[in-house]
Amino acid sequence: MGKLEGKVAIVTGAARGTGEATARLFVEEGARVLLVDVLDEQGEKVAAELGSTAAYHRLDVRKPEAWAAGLAAAEQAFGAVTVLVNNAAILEVASFEEHSHERIQEVLDVNLVGPFLGMQAVIPGMDEAGGGSIVNVGSIDSLEGEVGIAAYGASKWGLRGLTKCAALELGRRAIRVNLVAAAPGSSEMSAPFFAQTTKRLQERIAAGEEIDLAGPPVQPMGRGAGSVRHVAQMVAFLASEESAYCNGGDYAVDGGFTAGHIFPGSPGSY
Ligand SMILES: NC(=O)c1ccc[n+]([C@@H]2O[C@H](COP(=O)([O-])OP(=O)(O)OC[C@H]3O[C@@H](n4cnc5c(N)ncnc54)[C@H](O)[C@@H]3O)[C@@H](O)[C@H]2O)c1
Repeated sequence: MGKLEGKVAIVTGAARGTGEATARLFVEEGARVLLVDVLDEQGEKVAAELGSTAAYHRLDVRKPEAWAAGLAAAEQAFGAVTVLVNNAAILEVASFEEHSHERIQEVLDVNLVGPFLGMQAVIPGMDEAGGGSIVNVGSIDSLEGEVGIAAYGASKWGLRGLTKCAALELGRRAIRVNLVAAAPGSSEMSAPFFAQTTKRLQERIAAGEEIDLAGPPVQPMGRGAGSVRHVAQMVAFLASEESAYCNGGDYAVDGGFTAGHIFPGSPGSY
């Protein structure tokens, strides 16, 4: 028997990347899943591959009325929703002062207001069902700062704060709320970050600047060692009864990236 047998879940941003991996694992573990996204073609395709225990519905997480319609679709297809995975997000890559007001607002709307609205939408049904689990997909940027992504970082720290506030209010009602602080994600999201970083480095090297590319930060287990499946496994654990006493926590899936710093050359380093 799968660890999510009997659960009905909504997974946002499920058309690709971490959300898709989560929806796939949830179905493997016995859940019935409504995949939601704004990438309709990709979402429909993934849901069709998953079979009768999955369905796709367009849901722009920024819109309260879309949440109401999405919830109704999930209930009609599969019954009371007992798991919500707030995974959808967008990234803006820019220096601090280059962030436009419009993009700051957009990032906060999708990454922070969206999950807030989603939680508000599912709570009454979870109350009626006797409880539930809400898993918010954060990032290593929920635990640390990072250059070049200030709005995203603010949104992911906000999501972590929202997780804790909700966990405190809802715990007594058997609704658990936790955050996964992920390092791995889809290359679709991270590509603009790495493209801009590489371009800037190339420009600086071409201009004669000496840059120590071997310096920190160092990823203890290597960047390539992590995958969206690892993130999905933590999400599934937090959605399941195996995590029955986990509430309000931050669960890093980052290969040790946020554990501290490694100074190359120091004893024990590699
Ligand atoms: N990519 C990374 O390097 C990385 C690292 C750590 C954490 N994360 C986090 O993982 C989660 C999943 O991201 P991913 O890496 O799979 O990236 P992704 O861009 O592949 O997936 C995000 C999904 O959210 C959807 N989405 C965007 N705006 C939406 C909206 N308004 N309404 C509904 N859906 C919307 C997108 O269409 C997309 O399918 C995000 O919360 C992200 O912040 C990503």
